[in-house]
Amino acid sequence: MNSDNNQSGQSFEKYYIESRHTASALMEMEDTYGAHNYHPLPVVLSRGEGVHVWDVDGKRYYDFLSAYSAVNQGHCHPKIIQALIEQVQKLTLTSRAFYNDKLGVYEKYITEYFGFEKVLPMNTGAEAVETALKLCRKWAYQKKQIPENNAQIVVCAENFHGRTTTIVSFSVDPDAYSDYGPFTPGFTVIPYNDVEALEKTLVENPNIAGFLVEPIQGEAGAKVPDDGYLRKSYELCKKHNVLFIADEIQTGIARTGKLLACDYEEVKPDILILGKALSGGVYPVSAVLSSREIMEVIRPGQHGSTFGGNPLAAAVAVAALEVVRDERLAEKAYELGMIFREEMTAFCKTSKVAEFVRGKGLMNALIINNAHYKNLAWDICLKMAENGLLAKPTHTNIIRFAPPLVITNVQLMECISIIKKTVQEFE
Ligand SMILES: Cc1ncc(COP(=O)(O)O)c(C=O)c1O
Repeated sequence: MNSDNNQSGQSFEKYYIESRHTASALMEMEDTYGAHNYHPLPVVLSRGEGVHVWDVDGKRYYDFLSAYSAVNQGHCHPKIIQALIEQVQKLTLTSRAFYNDKLGVYEKYITEYFGFEKVLPMNTGAEAVETALKLCRKWAYQKKQIPENNAQIVVCAENFHGRTTTIVSFSVDPDAYSDYGPFTPGFTVIPYNDVEALEKTLVENPNIAGFLVEPIQGEAGAKVPDDGYLRKSYELCKKHNVLFIADEIQTGIARTGKLLACDYEEVKPDILILGKALSGGVYPVSAVLSSREIMEVIRPGQHGSTFGGNPLAAAVAVAALEVVRDERLAEKAYELGMIFREEMTAFCKTSKVAEFVRGKGLMNALIINNAHYKNLAWDICLKMAENGLLAKPTHTNIIRFAPPLVITNVQLMECISIIKKTVQEFE
Protein backbone atom coordinates (compact mmCIF):
# COMPACT_ATOMS: atom_id res chain seq x y z
CA MET A 1 0.00 0.00 0.00
CA ASN A 2 1.33 3.45 -0.67
CA SER A 3 0.45 6.53 1.30
CA ASP A 4 -0.98 8.43 -1.71
CA ASN A 5 -3.69 5.88 -1.94
CA ASN A 6 -4.48 6.27 1.71
CA GLN A 7 -4.64 10.02 1.37
CA SER A 8 -6.95 9.77 -1.61
CA GLY A 9 -9.09 7.43 0.41
CA GLN A 10 -8.39 4.39 -1.81
CA SER A 11 -8.38 1.17 0.16
CA PHE A 12 -5.51 -1.29 -0.03
CA GLU A 13 -7.86 -3.86 -1.50
CA LYS A 14 -8.91 -1.54 -4.33
CA TYR A 15 -5.31 -0.58 -4.99
CA TYR A 16 -4.24 -4.19 -5.08
CA ILE A 17 -7.11 -5.38 -7.27
CA GLU A 18 -6.60 -2.57 -9.76
CA SER A 19 -2.87 -3.10 -10.10
CA ARG A 20 -3.37 -6.84 -10.31
CA HIS A 21 -5.15 -6.43 -13.63
CA THR A 22 -2.37 -4.87 -15.64
CA ALA A 23 0.44 -7.04 -16.82
CA SER A 24 2.76 -4.07 -17.19
CA ALA A 25 2.18 -2.95 -13.58
CA LEU A 26 2.98 -6.44 -12.33
CA MET A 27 6.15 -6.66 -14.39
CA GLU A 28 7.17 -3.23 -13.18
CA MET A 29 6.67 -4.30 -9.57
CA GLU A 30 8.91 -7.33 -10.04
CA ASP A 31 11.41 -5.16 -11.79
CA THR A 32 11.42 -2.50 -9.10
CA TYR A 33 11.26 -4.57 -5.94
CA GLY A 34 12.78 -7.88 -6.99
CA ALA A 35 16.43 -8.73 -7.52
CA HIS A 36 17.35 -8.96 -11.19
CA ASN A 37 18.64 -12.52 -11.13
CA TYR A 38 16.30 -13.62 -13.94
CA HIS A 39 15.37 -12.27 -17.35
CA PRO A 40 11.80 -13.49 -17.92
CA LEU A 41 9.79 -13.33 -21.12
CA PRO A 42 7.27 -10.47 -20.80
CA VAL A 43 4.32 -12.74 -19.99
CA VAL A 44 2.50 -12.57 -16.64
CA LEU A 45 0.84 -15.85 -15.76
CA SER A 46 -1.97 -16.27 -13.30
CA ARG A 47 -3.44 -19.71 -13.92
CA GLY A 48 -2.40 -23.16 -15.08
CA GLU A 49 -4.15 -26.40 -15.90
CA GLY A 50 -2.58 -29.42 -17.59
CA VAL A 51 -0.51 -28.31 -20.57
CA HIS A 52 -1.89 -24.78 -20.50
CA VAL A 53 -1.20 -21.56 -18.65
CA TRP A 54 -3.14 -18.31 -18.87
CA ASP A 55 -1.87 -14.77 -18.50
CA VAL A 56 -3.57 -12.03 -16.51
CA ASP A 57 -5.41 -10.89 -19.63
CA GLY A 58 -6.88 -14.35 -20.16
CA LYS A 59 -4.65 -15.36 -23.08
CA ARG A 60 -3.95 -19.09 -23.15
CA TYR A 61 -0.55 -20.62 -23.91
CA TYR A 62 0.95 -24.06 -24.25
CA ASP A 63 3.69 -24.32 -21.64
CA PHE A 64 6.76 -25.79 -23.33
CA LEU A 65 9.10 -25.13 -20.43
CA SER A 66 7.13 -26.90 -17.66
CA ALA A 67 9.07 -24.93 -15.04
CA TYR A 68 12.29 -26.60 -16.20
CA SER A 69 10.59 -30.02 -16.10
CA ALA A 70 9.06 -29.64 -12.64
CA VAL A 71 5.54 -29.79 -14.04
CA ASN A 72 5.79 -33.14 -15.84
CA GLN A 73 2.36 -34.12 -14.52
CA GLY A 74 0.79 -30.92 -15.88
CA HIS A 75 -0.18 -27.75 -14.04
CA CYS A 76 -2.29 -28.18 -10.91
CA HIS A 77 -2.88 -31.89 -11.44
CA PRO A 78 -6.14 -32.57 -9.54
CA LYS A 79 -4.83 -35.65 -7.77
CA ILE A 80 -1.71 -33.88 -6.50
CA ILE A 81 -3.67 -30.78 -5.52
CA GLN A 82 -6.16 -32.96 -3.66
CA ALA A 83 -3.34 -34.64 -1.73
CA LEU A 84 -1.94 -31.21 -0.90
CA ILE A 85 -5.29 -29.84 0.29
CA GLU A 86 -6.03 -32.87 2.46
CA GLN A 87 -2.62 -32.79 4.09
CA VAL A 88 -2.34 -29.03 4.47
CA GLN A 89 -5.46 -29.08 6.63
CA LYS A 90 -4.01 -31.70 8.95
CA LEU A 91 -0.31 -31.20 9.48
CA THR A 92 2.33 -29.40 7.46
CA LEU A 93 5.57 -29.36 9.40
CA THR A 94 6.89 -31.12 12.45
CA SER A 95 10.62 -30.88 11.79
CA ARG A 96 12.56 -34.09 12.11
CA ALA A 97 12.75 -33.66 15.87
CA PHE A 98 9.68 -35.93 15.87
CA TYR A 99 8.30 -38.67 13.67
CA ASN A 100 5.28 -37.88 11.49
CA ASP A 101 2.67 -40.20 10.04
CA LYS A 102 3.48 -39.48 6.37
CA LEU A 103 7.27 -39.60 6.10
CA GLY A 104 7.79 -43.33 6.64
CA VAL A 105 5.02 -44.17 4.19
CA TYR A 106 6.61 -41.89 1.59
CA GLU A 107 10.09 -43.27 2.22
CA LYS A 108 8.87 -46.83 1.73
CA TYR A 109 6.97 -45.79 -1.39
CA ILE A 110 9.77 -43.87 -3.11
CA THR A 111 12.51 -46.38 -2.32
CA GLU A 112 10.42 -49.26 -3.71
CA TYR A 113 9.36 -47.13 -6.68
CA PHE A 114 12.95 -46.48 -7.76
CA GLY A 115 14.49 -49.68 -6.36
CA PHE A 116 16.74 -48.23 -3.65
CA GLU A 117 17.15 -49.12 0.01
CA LYS A 118 17.14 -45.66 1.51
CA VAL A 119 16.17 -42.07 0.84
CA LEU A 120 17.28 -38.78 2.35
CA PRO A 121 14.56 -36.16 1.83
CA MET A 122 15.36 -32.52 1.06
CA ASN A 123 13.52 -29.63 -0.62
CA THR A 124 15.25 -28.03 -3.60
CA GLY A 125 17.39 -29.64 -6.24
CA ALA A 126 20.54 -27.81 -5.19
CA GLU A 127 20.11 -29.03 -1.61
CA ALA A 128 19.79 -32.59 -2.83
CA VAL A 129 22.97 -32.22 -4.90
CA GLU A 130 24.77 -30.79 -1.84
CA THR A 131 23.50 -33.76 0.15
CA ALA A 132 24.81 -36.21 -2.43
CA LEU A 133 28.22 -34.51 -2.44
CA LYS A 134 28.45 -34.67 1.36
CA LEU A 135 27.31 -38.27 1.38
CA CYS A 136 29.91 -39.17 -1.23
CA ARG A 137 32.71 -37.45 0.68
CA LYS A 138 31.79 -39.10 3.97
CA TRP A 139 31.63 -42.48 2.25
CA ALA A 140 35.07 -41.81 0.76
CA TYR A 141 36.64 -41.20 4.18
CA GLN A 142 34.79 -43.85 6.12
CA LYS A 143 34.54 -46.68 3.58
CA LYS A 144 37.16 -46.06 0.90
CA GLN A 145 39.74 -44.79 3.39
CA ILE A 146 40.72 -41.75 1.33
CA PRO A 147 43.00 -39.55 3.49
CA GLU A 148 41.16 -36.74 5.28
CA ASN A 149 40.25 -33.74 3.12
CA ASN A 150 41.65 -35.35 -0.02
CA ALA A 151 38.49 -36.69 -1.62
CA GLN A 152 37.88 -35.51 -5.17
CA ILE A 153 34.63 -35.64 -7.07
CA VAL A 154 34.73 -35.72 -10.86
CA VAL A 155 32.18 -33.54 -12.65
CA CYS A 156 31.55 -32.65 -16.28
CA ALA A 157 32.09 -29.43 -18.19
CA GLU A 158 28.88 -27.53 -18.98
CA ASN A 159 27.20 -29.10 -15.98
CA PHE A 160 24.28 -27.53 -14.22
CA HIS A 161 23.60 -28.83 -10.71
CA GLY A 162 22.24 -25.74 -8.95
CA ARG A 163 23.32 -22.48 -7.42
CA THR A 164 24.97 -23.00 -4.03
CA THR A 165 28.51 -21.79 -3.48
CA THR A 166 29.89 -25.33 -3.55
CA ILE A 167 27.98 -26.25 -6.69
CA VAL A 168 29.01 -23.13 -8.61
CA SER A 169 32.58 -23.88 -7.55
CA PHE A 170 32.67 -26.52 -10.28
CA SER A 171 30.60 -24.72 -12.91
CA VAL A 172 32.33 -23.68 -16.13
CA ASP A 173 29.75 -20.97 -16.82
CA PRO A 174 31.12 -17.52 -15.83
CA ASP A 175 27.57 -16.26 -15.21
CA ALA A 176 27.18 -18.98 -12.58
CA TYR A 177 30.51 -18.54 -10.76
CA SER A 178 31.95 -15.07 -11.37
CA ASP A 179 32.58 -13.04 -8.22
CA TYR A 180 31.23 -15.77 -5.95
CA GLY A 181 34.63 -17.05 -4.84
CA PRO A 182 36.49 -18.27 -2.87
CA PHE A 183 35.30 -21.62 -4.12
CA THR A 184 35.02 -25.07 -2.59
CA PRO A 185 37.96 -27.26 -3.61
CA GLY A 186 37.79 -30.98 -4.32
CA PHE A 187 36.29 -31.12 -7.80
CA THR A 188 37.87 -32.23 -11.06
CA VAL A 189 36.17 -31.10 -14.25
CA ILE A 190 36.40 -33.33 -17.32
CA PRO A 191 34.64 -33.00 -20.70
CA TYR A 192 31.11 -34.42 -20.90
CA ASN A 193 30.54 -37.55 -22.98
CA ASP A 194 34.23 -38.47 -22.78
CA VAL A 195 34.84 -41.93 -21.36
CA GLU A 196 38.58 -41.75 -22.00
CA ALA A 197 38.88 -38.56 -19.96
CA LEU A 198 37.04 -40.24 -17.10
CA GLU A 199 39.23 -43.32 -17.28
CA LYS A 200 42.42 -41.26 -17.33
CA THR A 201 41.31 -39.30 -14.26
CA LEU A 202 40.33 -42.43 -12.36
CA VAL A 203 43.59 -44.20 -13.21
CA GLU A 204 45.77 -41.21 -12.29
CA ASN A 205 44.11 -40.23 -9.03
CA PRO A 206 43.42 -42.77 -6.27
CA ASN A 207 41.50 -40.18 -4.26
CA ILE A 208 38.46 -39.97 -6.51
CA ALA A 209 35.33 -40.56 -4.45
CA GLY A 210 32.57 -40.01 -6.97
CA PHE A 211 31.53 -39.12 -10.49
CA LEU A 212 28.61 -36.67 -10.63
CA VAL A 213 26.82 -36.57 -13.98
CA GLU A 214 23.60 -35.48 -15.66
CA PRO A 215 22.51 -38.39 -17.90
CA ILE A 216 21.45 -35.72 -20.40
CA GLN A 217 22.69 -32.19 -19.80
CA GLY A 218 19.60 -30.07 -19.34
CA GLU A 219 20.67 -26.47 -18.94
CA ALA A 220 23.40 -27.01 -21.54
CA GLY A 221 20.52 -27.49 -23.98
CA ALA A 222 19.35 -31.11 -23.88
CA LYS A 223 22.80 -32.47 -24.70
CA VAL A 224 22.46 -36.20 -25.19
CA PRO A 225 25.68 -38.22 -24.77
CA ASP A 226 26.65 -41.07 -27.07
CA ASP A 227 24.95 -44.42 -26.55
CA GLY A 228 26.95 -46.41 -24.04
CA TYR A 229 28.43 -43.38 -22.27
CA LEU A 230 26.53 -43.91 -19.02
CA ARG A 231 27.14 -47.65 -18.93
CA LYS A 232 30.85 -47.36 -19.68
CA SER A 233 31.22 -44.58 -17.12
CA TYR A 234 29.36 -46.64 -14.55
CA GLU A 235 31.59 -49.65 -15.19
CA LEU A 236 34.71 -47.53 -14.85
CA CYS A 237 33.39 -46.22 -11.55
CA LYS A 238 32.81 -49.79 -10.35
CA LYS A 239 36.32 -50.81 -11.40
CA HIS A 240 37.87 -47.96 -9.41
CA ASN A 241 35.54 -48.09 -6.41
CA VAL A 242 34.08 -44.68 -7.21
CA LEU A 243 30.44 -43.75 -6.60
CA PHE A 244 28.39 -43.10 -9.73
CA ILE A 245 26.10 -40.18 -8.84
CA ALA A 246 23.30 -39.40 -11.27
CA ASP A 247 21.68 -35.98 -11.10
CA GLU A 248 18.25 -36.80 -12.55
CA ILE A 249 16.61 -33.69 -11.17
CA GLN A 250 15.69 -32.63 -14.69
CA THR A 251 15.93 -35.89 -16.65
CA GLY A 252 14.18 -38.09 -14.09
CA ILE A 253 10.56 -38.93 -13.43
CA ALA A 254 9.54 -39.79 -17.00
CA ARG A 255 10.80 -36.67 -18.77
CA THR A 256 13.14 -38.48 -21.16
CA GLY A 257 10.83 -41.36 -22.02
CA LYS A 258 11.89 -43.72 -19.23
CA LEU A 259 11.31 -43.35 -15.53
CA LEU A 260 15.00 -42.40 -15.27
CA ALA A 261 17.31 -41.47 -18.13
CA CYS A 262 19.82 -43.98 -16.68
CA ASP A 263 17.27 -46.72 -17.43
CA TYR A 264 18.15 -46.42 -21.13
CA GLU A 265 21.48 -48.10 -20.33
CA GLU A 266 20.30 -50.17 -17.39
CA VAL A 267 22.53 -48.26 -15.05
CA LYS A 268 21.57 -48.13 -11.41
CA PRO A 269 23.41 -45.20 -9.84
CA ASP A 270 25.05 -45.58 -6.45
CA ILE A 271 23.45 -42.27 -5.58
CA LEU A 272 20.38 -40.93 -7.39
CA ILE A 273 19.31 -37.30 -7.05
CA LEU A 274 15.72 -36.27 -7.76
CA GLY A 275 13.76 -33.02 -7.45
CA LYS A 276 11.46 -30.88 -9.58
CA ALA A 277 8.70 -33.27 -10.79
CA LEU A 278 8.89 -35.22 -7.55
CA SER A 279 6.07 -32.90 -6.49
CA GLY A 280 4.63 -32.18 -9.94
CA GLY A 281 5.67 -28.58 -9.41
CA VAL A 282 3.33 -28.14 -6.48
CA TYR A 283 5.86 -27.85 -3.66
CA PRO A 284 9.65 -28.03 -3.38
CA VAL A 285 10.52 -31.69 -2.83
CA SER A 286 13.87 -33.32 -3.55
CA ALA A 287 15.46 -36.60 -2.61
CA VAL A 288 18.73 -38.50 -2.51
CA LEU A 289 18.40 -42.26 -2.92
CA SER A 290 21.09 -44.80 -2.20
CA SER A 291 21.98 -48.11 -0.57
CA ARG A 292 21.91 -48.81 3.15
CA GLU A 293 25.69 -49.21 3.13
CA ILE A 294 26.29 -45.75 1.67
CA MET A 295 23.50 -43.93 3.48
CA GLU A 296 24.54 -45.21 6.90
CA VAL A 297 27.68 -43.06 6.89
CA ILE A 298 25.51 -40.08 7.83
CA ARG A 299 24.51 -40.31 11.48
CA PRO A 300 22.02 -38.25 13.53
CA GLY A 301 22.93 -34.59 13.69
CA GLN A 302 25.34 -34.75 10.75
CA HIS A 303 22.99 -33.45 8.05
CA GLY A 304 19.41 -32.20 7.80
CA SER A 305 16.85 -29.58 6.88
CA THR A 306 13.93 -28.09 8.80
CA PHE A 307 11.53 -28.70 5.94
CA GLY A 308 13.08 -31.88 4.47
CA GLY A 309 10.70 -34.82 4.85
CA ASN A 310 7.78 -32.77 6.12
CA PRO A 311 4.36 -34.47 5.95
CA LEU A 312 3.03 -32.08 3.31
CA ALA A 313 5.96 -32.80 1.01
CA ALA A 314 5.61 -36.52 1.66
CA ALA A 315 1.89 -36.59 0.80
CA VAL A 316 2.42 -34.50 -2.34
CA ALA A 317 5.36 -36.60 -3.55
CA VAL A 318 3.47 -39.89 -3.23
CA ALA A 319 0.57 -38.45 -5.25
CA ALA A 320 2.96 -37.01 -7.86
CA LEU A 321 4.70 -40.35 -8.35
CA GLU A 322 1.38 -42.19 -8.53
CA VAL A 323 0.26 -39.89 -11.36
CA VAL A 324 3.43 -40.67 -13.32
CA ARG A 325 2.74 -44.39 -13.05
CA ASP A 326 -1.07 -44.31 -13.44
CA GLU A 327 -0.94 -42.10 -16.51
CA ARG A 328 2.01 -43.93 -18.07
CA LEU A 329 3.86 -40.66 -18.52
CA ALA A 330 7.21 -42.26 -19.33
CA GLU A 331 5.71 -44.27 -22.20
CA LYS A 332 3.88 -41.17 -23.44
CA ALA A 333 7.04 -39.07 -23.34
CA TYR A 334 8.87 -41.79 -25.26
CA GLU A 335 6.29 -42.02 -28.04
CA LEU A 336 5.54 -38.31 -28.37
CA GLY A 337 9.23 -37.45 -28.24
CA MET A 338 9.82 -39.63 -31.30
CA ILE A 339 7.10 -37.77 -33.18
CA PHE A 340 8.42 -34.38 -32.10
CA ARG A 341 11.97 -35.07 -33.27
CA GLU A 342 10.85 -36.69 -36.50
CA GLU A 343 8.66 -33.71 -37.40
CA MET A 344 11.23 -31.12 -36.37
CA THR A 345 14.13 -32.91 -38.05
CA ALA A 346 12.18 -32.88 -41.33
CA PHE A 347 11.40 -29.21 -40.80
CA CYS A 348 15.05 -28.30 -40.11
CA LYS A 349 15.99 -29.68 -43.54
CA THR A 350 13.81 -26.99 -45.09
CA SER A 351 14.83 -24.15 -42.75
CA LYS A 352 17.72 -21.69 -42.76
CA VAL A 353 16.96 -20.64 -39.19
CA ALA A 354 16.37 -23.97 -37.42
CA GLU A 355 19.59 -26.01 -37.63
CA PHE A 356 18.76 -29.26 -35.89
CA VAL A 357 16.82 -30.78 -33.05
CA ARG A 358 18.15 -33.08 -30.33
CA GLY A 359 16.85 -34.69 -27.19
CA LYS A 360 15.20 -37.73 -25.71
CA GLY A 361 11.57 -38.29 -24.80
CA LEU A 362 9.99 -34.88 -24.30
CA MET A 363 13.23 -33.16 -23.34
CA ASN A 364 14.29 -31.58 -26.61
CA ALA A 365 16.09 -28.56 -27.95
CA LEU A 366 16.08 -26.74 -31.25
CA ILE A 367 19.37 -25.19 -32.28
CA ILE A 368 18.93 -21.83 -33.97
CA ASN A 369 21.38 -20.40 -36.48
CA ASN A 370 22.04 -16.98 -34.99
CA ALA A 371 25.25 -16.25 -36.89
CA HIS A 372 23.74 -13.09 -38.40
CA TYR A 373 21.65 -11.93 -35.47
CA LYS A 374 22.53 -12.83 -31.90
CA ASN A 375 19.07 -12.40 -30.35
CA LEU A 376 17.24 -14.45 -32.93
CA ALA A 377 16.25 -17.27 -30.53
CA TRP A 378 14.91 -14.74 -28.02
CA ASP A 379 12.87 -13.03 -30.73
CA ILE A 380 11.53 -16.39 -31.90
CA CYS A 381 10.44 -17.13 -28.33
CA LEU A 382 8.67 -13.75 -28.12
CA LYS A 383 6.85 -14.49 -31.34
CA MET A 384 5.99 -18.03 -30.20
CA ALA A 385 4.44 -16.52 -27.08
CA GLU A 386 2.37 -14.27 -29.30
CA ASN A 387 1.36 -17.39 -31.20
CA GLY A 388 0.35 -19.17 -28.00
CA LEU A 389 3.37 -21.26 -26.99
CA LEU A 390 5.88 -20.52 -24.22
CA ALA A 391 9.52 -21.60 -24.45
CA LYS A 392 12.76 -19.94 -23.45
CA PRO A 393 16.22 -19.85 -25.00
CA THR A 394 19.32 -21.11 -23.24
CA HIS A 395 22.91 -20.24 -24.23
CA THR A 396 21.60 -17.63 -26.70
CA ASN A 397 20.81 -19.94 -29.60
CA ILE A 398 19.15 -23.03 -28.11
CA ILE A 399 15.39 -23.24 -27.52
CA ARG A 400 14.30 -25.98 -25.16
CA PHE A 401 10.98 -27.72 -25.71
CA ALA A 402 9.73 -29.61 -22.68
CA PRO A 403 5.93 -29.65 -22.44
CA PRO A 404 4.08 -31.27 -19.56
CA LEU A 405 4.00 -35.01 -20.26
CA VAL A 406 0.21 -35.08 -20.12
CA ILE A 407 0.14 -33.43 -23.56
CA THR A 408 -1.98 -35.35 -26.08
CA ASN A 409 -0.99 -36.38 -29.56
CA VAL A 410 -3.37 -33.82 -31.09
CA GLN A 411 -2.06 -31.03 -28.87
CA LEU A 412 1.53 -31.93 -29.70
CA MET A 413 0.80 -31.73 -33.43
CA GLU A 414 -0.81 -28.32 -32.93
CA CYS A 415 2.27 -27.16 -31.01
CA ILE A 416 4.62 -28.45 -33.67
CA SER A 417 2.74 -26.39 -36.23
CA ILE A 418 2.94 -23.28 -34.00
CA ILE A 419 6.70 -23.77 -33.68
CA LYS A 420 7.20 -24.29 -37.41
CA LYS A 421 4.97 -21.37 -38.36
CA THR A 422 6.79 -19.08 -35.94
CA VAL A 423 10.25 -20.07 -37.15
CA GLN A 424 9.09 -19.57 -40.74
CA GLU A 425 8.28 -15.95 -39.90
CA PHE A 426 12.05 -15.45 -39.42
CA GLU A 427 13.28 -17.20 -42.57
C1 LIG B 1 20.20 -31.21 -13.40
C2 LIG B 1 19.83 -30.19 -12.36
N1 LIG B 1 20.35 -30.28 -11.14
C3 LIG B 1 20.05 -29.40 -10.17
C4 LIG B 1 19.18 -28.35 -10.40
C5 LIG B 1 18.88 -27.38 -9.31
O1 LIG B 1 17.58 -27.52 -8.84
P1 LIG B 1 16.91 -26.34 -7.98
O2 LIG B 1 16.72 -25.18 -8.90
O3 LIG B 1 15.61 -26.92 -7.50
O4 LIG B 1 17.85 -26.02 -6.86
C6 LIG B 1 18.62 -28.21 -11.67
C7 LIG B 1 17.71 -27.09 -11.98
O5 LIG B 1 17.48 -26.71 -13.09
C8 LIG B 1 18.95 -29.15 -12.68
O6 LIG B 1 18.44 -29.07 -13.90
